[in-house]
Amino acid sequence: MAPVTVHIALGSNLGDRTAHLETALQRLAQVPGIELVRRSAWRESALQGDGPPQGAFCNGVAELRTTLPPLALLGVLKELERQAGRVLPAPRNHPRPLDLDLVFYGDFTIDSRELVVPHPRWHERAFVVEPLQELGVEIAARPRRATPVVIGPPAELAAQCSQWLAGGCVLGLVPTMGSLHPGHRSLMEIARAECDRVVATIFVNPLQFGPGEDFAAYPRSLERDVELCRSAGVDAVFAPSVAQMYDPEFASHVAVGAAADGMEGALRPGHFAGVATVVARLFAISRPHRAYFGEKDAQQLAVIRRLQRDLGFPLQIVGCPIVREGDGLAMSSRNVYLGPADRAAASILVRSLRSAAHAFQRGETDRDRLVARARTVLATEPRAAVDYVELRREGDLALLPPGKVAGGRMLIAARFRDGVRPVRLLDNMSLHEVVDA
Ligand code: PAJ
Repeated sequence: MAPVTVHIALGSNLGDRTAHLETALQRLAQVPGIELVRRSAWRESALQGDGPPQGAFCNGVAELRTTLPPLALLGVLKELERQAGRVLPAPRNHPRPLDLDLVFYGDFTIDSRELVVPHPRWHERAFVVEPLQELGVEIAARPRRATPVVIGPPAELAAQCSQWLAGGCVLGLVPTMGSLHPGHRSLMEIARAECDRVVATIFVNPLQFGPGEDFAAYPRSLERDVELCRSAGVDAVFAPSVAQMYDPEFASHVAVGAAADGMEGALRPGHFAGVATVVARLFAISRPHRAYFGEKDAQQLAVIRRLQRDLGFPLQIVGCPIVREGDGLAMSSRNVYLGPADRAAASILVRSLRSAAHAFQRGETDRDRLVARARTVLATEPRAAVDYVELRREGDLALLPPGKVAGGRMLIAARFRDGVRPVRLLDNMSLHEVVDA
């Protein structure tokens, strides 16, 4: 193989920093197939991003010529990090004796599970850009990836996902309707921890809104949402227009079964068919290994689990815990529409759920008495107009017969009407959830 010009970034902020960097370069130069051409001056920089308090870094860039293929060279760099005393896999942004990043490998572009070149954030880092400029490396034309990449056309998302899947990446999907808050963020963070690439989708799906519902008024804030996705480590944001998602001839819909009966399904006819249709389409476009949904929308989660099994989508559905405000109110994109008095009153939902869970844990096992317990607490708040309170089987949310229960999930919906517009709030809780007295 003809030698390729390669640039690597070196950094150290533990022990004798320059000695670590110099030793690494000496060892590199001894590896067959690697020639050390030159290096920049070493320079100091503080840690970028968050991490525990730690000393400044000593950084620089080296230019090599190599006949080693990219993954073999990466293996050499990892081995040198290990020899310098770095424990791999290393916790993110912790102090380290040696950090070696492959920045450029000739003009090659690689985006696989093991390696991304050019390095995805090279252009954001002065401690890489300045040494490259010092060495006179031509950087203007080098690819700069925006992270996350924002994609509109479904075919482009499909192509991006195909590339990642071909590179052996474990792909995670986080479907949302945007107006993102810490509840959504928690899904992205769980996906980030479990997957090599994370795709978040932001699409207010008209199919799941009924005629009198708030499709037009649903809060939208794409720029802010992309920034939240970026800070949560999302790799791609899929934000199609309605026309991109559904072409004018679009006619096929997913019919949903018993999981969609009652509760939200009864109050919002067609809602879960609309959810199932868009989710099936998102699965088909992106083909993720894992898809992340919140327990906040427990009936939706049950419908999607059923959909995955019934249609045989080869992926895992991951349910994620509810993220709450300080007073216990489940976070929701619609909370912004609550007036101040309704906002204060809205914690009645979680308080009634906790009361029922608490009663169960102290020995009350009768289904209807547990429901009545939650209703009694809800009735203390005249601002809340209750749509339903139900105790259902954990998991598939099947109906429970009257009488004794060994557990279950209680689900509530209530309306509040004093804000900018009427708001329906949902909440739910396992009877086994540990709650304060
Ligand atoms: P959306 O309401 O934006 O919610 C996206 C995901 O975030 C859902 O899985 C939801 O359960 C989860 N989520 C919302 N609030 C949460 C909270 N406080 N804690 C934990 N998770 C929370 O649900 C939808 O969008 C749509 O129906 C969708 C699945 C995207 C299909 O259009």
